[in-house]
Amino acid sequence: MEKIIDENKQGNTLVLDQKTTNHRKLYIESYGCQMNFSDSEIVASILAKEGFNTTQELEEADLVLVNTCSIRDKAEQTVRKRLEKFNRVKRKVNPQMKVGVLGCMAERLKSKFLEEEKIVDMVVGPDAYKDLPNLVQEIDEGRNAVNVILSKEETYGDIAPVRLNSNGVTALVSITRGCDNMCTFCVVPYTRGRERSRDPQSIIKEVNELWEQGFKEITLLGQNVDSYLWYGGGLKKDFDKASEMQKATAVTFTTLLSLVAEAQPKMRIRFSTSNPQDMTEDVLHVMAKYDNICNHIHLPVQSGSNRILKEMNRLHTREEYFALIDKVREIMPDCGISQDLIAGFPTETEEDHKDTLSLMEYVKYDFGYMFSYSERPGTPAARKMEDDVPEEVKKRRLQEIVDLQREHSHYRTQKQVGQIVEVLIEKSSKKSDEQWSGRSPHNTVVVFRKENYKIGEFVNVKITDCTSATLIGEPVGYSKNQLPISGQA
Ligand code: SAH
Ligand code: F3S
Repeated sequence: MEKIIDENKQGNTLVLDQKTTNHRKLYIESYGCQMNFSDSEIVASILAKEGFNTTQELEEADLVLVNTCSIRDKAEQTVRKRLEKFNRVKRKVNPQMKVGVLGCMAERLKSKFLEEEKIVDMVVGPDAYKDLPNLVQEIDEGRNAVNVILSKEETYGDIAPVRLNSNGVTALVSITRGCDNMCTFCVVPYTRGRERSRDPQSIIKEVNELWEQGFKEITLLGQNVDSYLWYGGGLKKDFDKASEMQKATAVTFTTLLSLVAEAQPKMRIRFSTSNPQDMTEDVLHVMAKYDNICNHIHLPVQSGSNRILKEMNRLHTREEYFALIDKVREIMPDCGISQDLIAGFPTETEEDHKDTLSLMEYVKYDFGYMFSYSERPGTPAARKMEDDVPEEVKKRRLQEIVDLQREHSHYRTQKQVGQIVEVLIEKSSKKSDEQWSGRSPHNTVVVFRKENYKIGEFVNVKITDCTSATLIGEPVGYSKNQLPISGQA
């Protein structure tokens, strides 16, 4: 490809290839987990090299991509509704528009998507994004394009994501892809393939670059971060076949976390998600050791009943979970803990549900994400168990779980009233333009008067009031983590 020289607004000379001057418009929408939002940034980066600039205006897009979620039926229905909307825009306003589906639904439905939704021109699974330049060319030439091949190696470690809808303060950094846990209700192992970890050097490089760009908080992402294991590439399940040298120099999550914490000691670090069966005590000690690792663990439990945990193939008991919670509290007395819970898994009895409520009473989570069971085609639960808890029973049990969580969240936020918490400012509060909104290390939203503070600064806030989800306070000065700025107290 012939190279040309261009100049950007700052007058820096950039070397661009011909395609970059096309300036086609890409509109990208993401649904589901944080991993999807992170993947969309990788996709935007790959397509930027093909001359696509992102736009927020659907009507003017040449290419519309929707990064989809399959985790529950409702998530899939939401995507189908969006496709109807795209269809209307294409018919009425923009007949040239092409539409591609990415992510878990693409992987689950494969080329069936093209038959089921006529608007769709392109179907791309989560491991095939590097093939997008070819796939886009296919659709440009009027053919449909599909690539849903799952990979043993792909981690996109070599791609610098384009930050989309960024507040410039917080960013997602993916560290593992796929999942080997095979929880019986979950579609992720089928849509995202086997677990593999990303090269730690590329993770550190990305974190360093984010710091240089002014970002102040990162979240290390994976379906199951505690099982991170780098031994030179390849699937986690093939680690046994690695050489002695590879085994001896392997990097675990504990090591990775320390490396990241040390690489950028002023950067706030979070991680998500931890599966209780893989979370080790070493991680807790690393969290306690480094000031910049936030005291918060997202520790999904799914159910409080031993029988249901077994049916779900969650490889721990209720008692082992309690022991882990006790360990967390012993090593970090001040640590936020949050949950994911499912109401109405097949065969769940009233007794099992009560076990879930009593488990919640024991932990008193700071917050949680609660769902009613949604059967996913092809999963072990769907194949072997009947979805036998009536919808209204699921709904009632879910409501009881949500109500109890609200009580516990309030209990947790109330405990913070009178305390001083460090807040990283992210944006203006939705309720008032005169207030900032940020988050505490526990990941609770905090709002307070703006005064002269700015987005991206670390501020100590004295908590004066709260709701179950939000802390309200008064700023009392910069926190020790705020970098000295000339003229700053
Ligand atoms: N390890 C993952 C979990 C992915 S799924 C993570 O990084 O978050 C997120 C949550 O969705 C799960 O913890 C579970 O509570 C819920 N979930 C998954 N499959 C579900 C299903 N079939 N029905 C209802 N909820 C489900
Ligand atoms: Fe799903 Fe269980 Fe993995 S919930 S993403 S199979 S840890």
